[in-house]
Amino acid sequence: MNVTDNMFAQAVKAMNNAYAPYSHYTVGACVRTQQDTLYAGCNVENASYGLTCCAEMSAICQMISAGEKIILEVVIVAQGKQLCFPCGACLQRLEEFGDKNMLIHIADPKEIRQTVTLGELFPKPFSSRNLET
Ligand code: THU
Repeated sequence: MNVTDNMFAQAVKAMNNAYAPYSHYTVGACVRTQQDTLYAGCNVENASYGLTCCAEMSAICQMISAGEKIILEVVIVAQGKQLCFPCGACLQRLEEFGDKNMLIHIADPKEIRQTVTLGELFPKPFSSRNLET
């Protein structure tokens, strides 16, 4: 199994554990770091809807908790007619830990359907560079 297939498998596994009793829209994500480690996450909803945590955020929290910071690649998987591109908030979260060349693979539960870069989805981000003096 190549690394992207492995990421896809881990994202699907996480999606199957998603806690989405309100939207019934389950999402899984898996990031690959500079050290070639994989971290997966799923969306976690809450009765207080605004507290919902996206799958990408869960995967990022796993990565940070394990002591890593640089994402090279991410797979996002969801069901439904439309592909699940990362929401605006998650583009900002991904931007924090990678560069414009980060590969973002968008999948349905069967396979990866589209691959884009972070720079394509989020060409003019606000970033830590804005805070440099
Ligand atoms: N969701 C994600 O997990 N990632 C995204 O990029 C888009 C949306 C989740 C949040 C919520 O639990 C459900 O999808 C419906 O919005």
